[in-house]
Amino acid sequence: MRISIFPILATFLVLAAGCGRDSMSEIGFSLPEGDPVAGREAFLYMQCNQCHTVYGEDLPPVPLADPPYVQLGGPVTTIKTYGQIVTGIINPSHELAEGYAEDVVSEDGESNMYIYNRYMTVQELIDIVMFLQPHYDVVVPNTIYRTYP
Ligand code: HEC
Repeated sequence: MRISIFPILATFLVLAAGCGRDSMSEIGFSLPEGDPVAGREAFLYMQCNQCHTVYGEDLPPVPLADPPYVQLGGPVTTIKTYGQIVTGIINPSHELAEGYAEDVVSEDGESNMYIYNRYMTVQELIDIVMFLQPHYDVVVPNTIYRTYP
């Protein structure tokens, strides 16, 4: 009897792919409590307001800044989680902010945002996320229900 190696190989590949994805999963991610007031301060001294406005906050403009400003916070249709905000800061090109033309906020798929990973402490990151997250308002999109006779 000839045993085909193909199903065995295919099973192995599927398992290997599954394992690979699991070890890169964001499951298990959880931020400790942070201080939103310290987060606001960090946001200002790192001059995030050079390129960002924050919905509901009156932040001083940075002299000589040349925006287009990208708004952080405001109405969103799905909740902005801590994980999404952390990713927006430490891996900005992963998913570009919605609602902006790509050539305004990025170049060749790379976000125009500075990478702060070598300069920002983990505590500053946590505090900034705690400051930003409550500024997102989840709005439920209007659903039009049709009634059928
Ligand atoms: C030089 C301009 C610039 C500076 C300075 C800057 N950003 Fe950004 N940021 C951007 C641009 C452009 C985007 C939109 C493209 C993208 O999603 O990466 C963005 C996106 C983001 C997002 C994701 C928004 C979304 O809706 O997905 C977050 C969160 C963010 N920035 C936080 C920060 C924080 C915190 C700082 C300061 C530590 C900062 N940014 C500094 C330009 C900047």
